[in-house]
Amino acid sequence: MRMHKKNHLEERLMQCGDIVKIADLRDKNMKRAAGVKELLPLKEIFKNDNPVRLEIGCGKGKFVSETAKINPDINFVACEKISNVLIEALESAKADGLKNVYFLNCAAEVLEKYFESGSIDKIYLNFSNPLPKEGYKKQRLTHPRFLKIYKSLLRVGGEIVQKTDDGDFYEFSLESYKSEGFEIAYTCQDLAAHPVDGDVETEHERRFKQCGKNIYRIVAVKR
Ligand SMILES: C[S@@+](CC[C@H](N)C(=O)[O-])C[C@H]1O[C@@H](n2cnc3c(N)ncnc32)[C@H](O)[C@@H]1O
Repeated sequence: MRMHKKNHLEERLMQCGDIVKIADLRDKNMKRAAGVKELLPLKEIFKNDNPVRLEIGCGKGKFVSETAKINPDINFVACEKISNVLIEALESAKADGLKNVYFLNCAAEVLEKYFESGSIDKIYLNFSNPLPKEGYKKQRLTHPRFLKIYKSLLRVGGEIVQKTDDGDFYEFSLESYKSEGFEIAYTCQDLAAHPVDGDVETEHERRFKQCGKNIYRIVAVKR
């Protein structure tokens, strides 16, 4: 289903220019684009040296904003490739006056462009599209080609925390983590039965829970 472009999108993005970096999408060769460094000046952005966590595919931003509110001593960068969706996250973070959240309007494929290697403490993957068709396998955000990128961003001992409602995607992701040398520190196939302290419900999670779906969770550690 195609989404309607939001009214005055460009103007609204510009008004949030102080809390977002918008990628230059002219180079369609993602590998080449990722190689041209434009490191985010994290110290300048956040005005401190606190650890940085990254959410990939943040959608409308409920998870990152609420998680940032309860963790004021941690900095959060949230990445989302669709600006039409991200604008909601930007406007609500701005209205809340959050100082420890910054946004990146870019594809996960080019994340290495923006961060020093080993600079990320934790990565969140919340309800990434499971893309069940074989032909789209490489687009799944836990495909080994993405895990190689996340591995370079994470510090040693840093972790990926993933939630999904899709059992097949859960199994696929577990295999990918193992094949890329991540240690599986935790798995859960029913988050409601094993709630995690400080875990925030996302927009998609709320909908899936209302349909009675189980929520799966994985914590994979870079060794
Ligand atoms: C199913 S939504 C989940 C949104 C939110 N995390 C939640 O749980 O409510 C997946 C989001 O990931 C984004 N996404 C998919 N592939 C991406 C990529 N390669 N880079 C950045 N974002 C991506 C989509 O645009 C979409 O907003």
